[in-house]
Amino acid sequence: MAATTETVAILGGTGQQGSGLARRFARAGVRVIVGSRDPDRARATVGGWGAMPGPIDVASYAQAAASVTLVLLAVPFGSIDDLLAELRSSWKPGTIVIDVTVPVTFAGGKMAMLEVAEGSASEHVRARLSPEVGLAAAFKTIPAHLLGDGDTPLDCDEFVCGDTDEARARAAELVTLLPGLRAVDAGPLSRARSIEHLTALAIAINRRHKIHDARFRIVGL
Ligand SMILES: NC(=O)c1ccc[n+]([C@@H]2O[C@H](COP(=O)([O-])OP(=O)(O)OC[C@H]3O[C@@H](n4cnc5c(N)ncnc54)[C@H](OP(=O)(O)O)[C@@H]3O)[C@@H](O)[C@H]2O)c1
Repeated sequence: MAATTETVAILGGTGQQGSGLARRFARAGVRVIVGSRDPDRARATVGGWGAMPGPIDVASYAQAAASVTLVLLAVPFGSIDDLLAELRSSWKPGTIVIDVTVPVTFAGGKMAMLEVAEGSASEHVRARLSPEVGLAAAFKTIPAHLLGDGDTPLDCDEFVCGDTDEARARAAELVTLLPGLRAVDAGPLSRARSIEHLTALAIAINRRHKIHDARFRIVGL
């Protein structure tokens, strides 16, 4: 298995979730590539983060996917089909993709879960990835607001599921690299549906209680 200190590419690394993860990983000493549709714009975004202990590079999505074997998918659910079609021939052998996406919409300020024919966003991704690419889901229930606040301890559990033991193990290693996060192995990729619904629950709790950082801790484990 590859070392946890290998480079991680984050597709959507300029977004709320992706940038929070990029900065947290950089602080944990992981080399990060921020993948973006516009690397120049991404460079400007990364420049605005100030000094980071670890190196952060920027690249197009295709360059980012082609240069590492650990890739986080942190783009809007609605952009997945086009992006995965574009990347079809980009993946390196042995790549593990970690899907962060959640199929929620916020039309008119109202949150709704999209019905996904495959069962979950991660299974939707699975159906569009070549079989040689391993897939796990993680970082779906940790709020971007908290990730982006580098001084606040994460202090919660993060659910991991995946279609192989290796994919789950590598996602769990990545989770564990972030101080205050515990990886909870939830089993096969089909568990992603439940995890994505927990994200929707956390958003609803945030709204109801006028907070930003609702998240989960499993007791008894
Ligand atoms: N926000 C949260 O708290 C949270 C929590 C858990 C999971 N997630 C999931 O993480 C993913 C990203 O969410 P986010 O809140 O970070 O979204 P966001 O702030 O809108 O960022 C998404 C990033 O994806 C990239 N992107 C690629 N194709 C795109 C397209 N067609 N339209 C718009 N952006 C596109 C953009 O980067 P470039 O312009 O640089 O390409 C953008 O910075 C979503 O699937 C979401 O469900 C979010």
